[in-house]
Amino acid sequence: MVVSSAPGKVYLFGEHAVVYGEPAVPCAIELRARVAVEERDDDRLRVHAEDLSLDGFTVEYSRETDMGPDVNVADSLVEAAMGYVDAAVAQARDAADAPDAGFDITIESEIPLGAGLGSSAAVTAAGIDAATRELGVELSTEEIADRAYRAESEVQDGEASRADTFCSASGGAVRVEGDDCRTISAPDLPFVIGFDGGAGDTGKLVSGVRALREEYDFAADTVASIGDLVRSGEDALAEGNVEELGRLMNFNHGLLEALGVSSRSLDNMVWAARDADALGAKLTGAGGGGCIVALDPSKATETALKFTPGCEDAFRAKLDTDGVRVEEA
Ligand code: MEV
Repeated sequence: MVVSSAPGKVYLFGEHAVVYGEPAVPCAIELRARVAVEERDDDRLRVHAEDLSLDGFTVEYSRETDMGPDVNVADSLVEAAMGYVDAAVAQARDAADAPDAGFDITIESEIPLGAGLGSSAAVTAAGIDAATRELGVELSTEEIADRAYRAESEVQDGEASRADTFCSASGGAVRVEGDDCRTISAPDLPFVIGFDGGAGDTGKLVSGVRALREEYDFAADTVASIGDLVRSGEDALAEGNVEELGRLMNFNHGLLEALGVSSRSLDNMVWAARDADALGAKLTGAGGGGCIVALDPSKATETALKFTPGCEDAFRAKLDTDGVRVEEA
């Protein structure tokens, strides 16, 4: 049996616009998905997921390929999660040239599903790493990132950028623009995360932005403005200017809101963070529900979020410089 893990992430800037070739800066955080893979002596797949939870958000299921999962959250979320696992297995079988390999897979994740913290990318990257190692093949981080991207892209009907999967595979702060993916240096960033207990449908949210962009030139300009903002953000990062990063995050949230991907609970949490004098706050990931990320070195934002209606959990997150890694072999 091999166990691999990979981190979740927050977007400092650039989600959605990155799908159209603009740059984005996601940062890996110290919340991990761990995937244990054991080869079977038949070609079947059995997946058991536990602890996909953060304060009361729990998914538990186990299935043979032809049986439905037994869970207590929305079917669409589980179907999506299973889609990522199946696509990761297909990538691992292909990489190891073992089309008939069967596996028992156990997923334990600290990252809530579909909440904008990169749960699917983390499960996909860790799953590909563990399954290929179990078959005796060791892939480079670049290849894991590339295969995880292909898996995610397949599940999201081709509407995915390389940002989530590259960040999860490599760890740290990264810059992604089209196919150009690299790690960049970042100061110690005081991330605070607020979670509304919900989730968004990434595929639908991405298609919504695509439709707006096709219908209105000003929506296309909004996407391009996010790209400009990210370029300014990169300068602020390089200078370690955390105040400026915060201002740009506020701006980025406004542009995402204009593109229709925020929600009342995300906006409430962003405003609670601003009222608590956070340096900046924005939704993170696809939006629609899930998480916001704020920058605040003091305790004020975390405390304010805990008292904000609609916020289920608030916690501090540290940048994780480790990407995908083996936990047990
Ligand atoms: C989702 O975590 C981030 C999006 O930009 C989609 C993607 O980059 O694949 C909305």
